[in-house]
Amino acid sequence: MPAPTTTEVPWWRGGVVYQVYPRSFADSNGDGVGDLVGAASRLGHLRDLGVDAVWFSPFYRSPMADFGYDIDDHCDVDPLFGDLGAADRLIETAHRSGLRVVLDFVPGHTSDRHPWFGESRSSRGNPRRDWYVWRDPAPDGGPPTDWRAAFGDYPAWTLDPTTGQYYLHLFLPEQPDLDWNHPEVAAAMIDVLRFWSDRGVDGFRIDVVHTVGKRLDVDTPAELRGIPACVLDHGPGVHLRLTELRSRTDAFPSPPALIGETYVFDRERVVDFLGHGDQLHLAFNIPALHSPWDAAVWRDEMASAIDLYDPVDGWPCWVLSNHDVPRHRTRYGTEARARAAAVLLLTQRGTPFLYQGEELGLADAVVEGDRVVDPGGRDGCRAPIPWDDSPGCGWPADPWLPFAPDAAALSVARQSGDPASMLEHYRRLLRLRRTEPVLSVGRVEILDAPDGVLRYRRWLDEPPGGAAAELEVLVNFTDEPVEVPGVSGRWVGGTARPGETPGPGQGLGPDEARILDPRG
Ligand code: GLC
Repeated sequence: MPAPTTTEVPWWRGGVVYQVYPRSFADSNGDGVGDLVGAASRLGHLRDLGVDAVWFSPFYRSPMADFGYDIDDHCDVDPLFGDLGAADRLIETAHRSGLRVVLDFVPGHTSDRHPWFGESRSSRGNPRRDWYVWRDPAPDGGPPTDWRAAFGDYPAWTLDPTTGQYYLHLFLPEQPDLDWNHPEVAAAMIDVLRFWSDRGVDGFRIDVVHTVGKRLDVDTPAELRGIPACVLDHGPGVHLRLTELRSRTDAFPSPPALIGETYVFDRERVVDFLGHGDQLHLAFNIPALHSPWDAAVWRDEMASAIDLYDPVDGWPCWVLSNHDVPRHRTRYGTEARARAAAVLLLTQRGTPFLYQGEELGLADAVVEGDRVVDPGGRDGCRAPIPWDDSPGCGWPADPWLPFAPDAAALSVARQSGDPASMLEHYRRLLRLRRTEPVLSVGRVEILDAPDGVLRYRRWLDEPPGGAAAELEVLVNFTDEPVEVPGVSGRWVGGTARPGETPGPGQGLGPDEARILDPRG
């Protein structure tokens, strides 16, 4: 089958998405927490970077037990972030800047303060009782199953004294799980999507989507006992829900892209969430997010993507950092590796997601003692974005979390225009990905390479005028120089600083990544 041409590639395939974690992005009112007016004022940074879409982590009304992933009104903005008018202006500003807008959609649970849960817990006979998952205690009075919650070693069930039953919460007790088996739940949540779609939103990142359609009333398989139930494989039930979600949202006046946080560690299962083009548009490749910086492991990641995704219709989705895991600059250990990782990420077939601050090379902040706020221990990767090298790094007041190490030196203002900086490295790579569609939509083949090196070819059968039909990528995962036989072609991008580009046929330097045009 021929490789796709570049015409009519939907934005969620051809583009790069940038995740904004609003609390830590930009603060307009000096309360130390980022907000929507602040975010709108900084969208120029995304435009200059060269991304195509922006995903905002939740800014809905929330008691903030899980910093916005515990929602008590899906159709309003938390006053901490602004109001609906500010959300409308943010969406409009993004669109005017040429950016598509993706919002977080949290279907699996609400806040325990959501009026729906208030009704549900009020009595066994309440009409909204079955919107959530209520079960009698086990014969010994304990939780109905052995499921564990995330963020600590405790059961995923809490006994509610009012009615003497347990309710399910895969995350905090403040995040009771909705029961999608109830048709009114699905209908209410689709109404939420319609509400935001009508306000111009182009897509939704769907939180822990594999848990919508849970296999209830079973214990954890013996070999997995103790791991949180939110990362268990909840079986095929989810696919019915996703097919319904897709067909309902496809009928919206502007059908949104559905992007799933598919937190499963089995690569084959990740692909299943795309169905036959009738479920999610994109499913995050979570195994790759957790892969170490190792050529053999990444070779495996890429080989399995080639095997598992249809070469024409199948479309992977790659991410190295987000607001839930230590940043890859921290995980991989050095700035040089983070530079090479940017080349790896932005030359993959599939849609790359960037997490705010990775383009600055930020490491995790060290958050200790009374500054720790997240029950899941994720504060380090959520440190505020340093905009300039003033004492507050462009924040009008002390932000809710400390800055990452070297924040002033790594700030947007300090890195802009410095060709050696991480920021300019990302800008160059994103420009290249835009001018050479072979890097976004071309096909991929892995080539032989010495240990420690990953080498692959991207190609397009019908490149648009002037663009390359083929590019080759080499990534040295080691901090030693490596000779790679038969390397030839013109250097078009990579970790080398402009003016220091390696000559043809030259071996790879330590931690070097290189993109070559074999046309010479
Ligand atoms: C997802 C979010 C995470 C949140 C959890 C519960 O994994 O990314 O931040 O805590 O879901 O909603």
